[in-house]
Amino acid sequence: MITPDLENLPELGEIDLYDPERYRTSSQHPAWHTLRLRAPVWPQSTPDGDRFWSVTRFHDVSTLLMDDKRFSSAYGTILAVAKGDIAAGKTINLMDQPDHAGVRLPAMRTMSTRVARDRKEAVRRHVRRVLGSALDGGTVDFAELAAHLPLAAVGDIVGIPESAWPGLPRLAMAGVAPGDPSYSAGAESDTLTGAHFEIFAMFTELVRERRRRRRDDLISVLLDADLGGRRLSEHELVLNCYSFLMGAVTTTPQVAAHLIQVFIDQPGTWRRVRQDPALVPTAVEEALRWASPTNHLMRRARCPVRLGGTLIDEGDLVCGWVAAANRDETVFAEPYAFDPARQPNPHLAFGVGAHRCIGGPPAQVVLAVLLEELCGRVDEIVPAGAPVHMRSNFINGITSLPVEFRPGGRSERVAAGAATVTR
Ligand code: HEM
Repeated sequence: MITPDLENLPELGEIDLYDPERYRTSSQHPAWHTLRLRAPVWPQSTPDGDRFWSVTRFHDVSTLLMDDKRFSSAYGTILAVAKGDIAAGKTINLMDQPDHAGVRLPAMRTMSTRVARDRKEAVRRHVRRVLGSALDGGTVDFAELAAHLPLAAVGDIVGIPESAWPGLPRLAMAGVAPGDPSYSAGAESDTLTGAHFEIFAMFTELVRERRRRRRDDLISVLLDADLGGRRLSEHELVLNCYSFLMGAVTTTPQVAAHLIQVFIDQPGTWRRVRQDPALVPTAVEEALRWASPTNHLMRRARCPVRLGGTLIDEGDLVCGWVAAANRDETVFAEPYAFDPARQPNPHLAFGVGAHRCIGGPPAQVVLAVLLEELCGRVDEIVPAGAPVHMRSNFINGITSLPVEFRPGGRSERVAAGAATVTR
């Protein structure tokens, strides 16, 4: 869905931002459009009766995320855990200050813009391995392929041995969307427990290893993180490793998949980028805005607070719908158009404020590398089946995207990141 039918927007009574099934079968952009126009701070309840507010305007979502003094992350940040996250207060994304800074500041150094830029050619080698012969013709499921991009981006940085990379994406996705048929291994709770068990066992082993011998990786940095005079416990270390893995694996592939879908739907956009790879950096930012892999981010009010003109009570849950904010027409001209040259592009796909995505730089690098590889090696991108969307109100996911990449004149200059393309 590109532009909602503005003559036929849903009524408020028809809107349900919780139901995960709706995200699998339809776009929620018409609903978010209605809410931005008519009910920018909107109350709803989960099926279990937990009430949450939804904000959909760019300004309100930014305010919510920036104001970490009055809106806490330490209860839980996604609707699926409206009753409270079991890792609350223990992982970087679920901590408030000052503990949050104790973990975030040292961790940031392992994936800064400079580190990510310096690692670009190493990432390219990993990406080329992931792509294999996929760009040489024949049908591939791009969603399956893209699932391996995050570890190409941060597997080394986190400290996960390469031998474990192939199996992790599926386990991680089962951890975030256990009800989705693509990841399900029986009942949702069994799927979740099984996935957690395997991932936690791996990180427990890696933490023990690093305790004996530090390396140049995130796990080693976390071991030495200082939270006001105390270290993270073994359990907290493993949970934090899990958070980093989940942060990477659940989001990055979705940007790539949505970008390919745009190129399929709009071959002119693909030709434009292919002919002018100088557009790669802005196209990546536009893909982030377009895909907005995390539909929402939740916070809990620590005190009574006015947001978007509505009084939020202490303890209330508030969801900032990033996906809706990134289509706000007061901020983005023609928000439903994919413009690979869009600038400025102040999208909120990485969030904003104290918890802004720490993995943004490596994610941007792996997406740029992917796009450069496509520009250098592919002529046409042709659909080979219908895309399948994820059953999740949190991740804007594509679980299957059959596609054929028809090879074009290869240009090593482009593949190496030069600004011109030769055909
Ligand atoms: C395109 C890719 C990505 C997108 C769209 C994305 C999105 C986000 C968003 C929206 C947040 C803010 C969460 C909040 O405010 O509650 C976040 C935080 C986070 N992301 Fe990412 N992410 C991406 C890639 C990555 C990667 C590659 C990593 C792994 C290193 C990662 C790890 C994290 C972590 C650990 C946090 C928590 C940061 C904190 O609380 O200080 N993300 N991400």
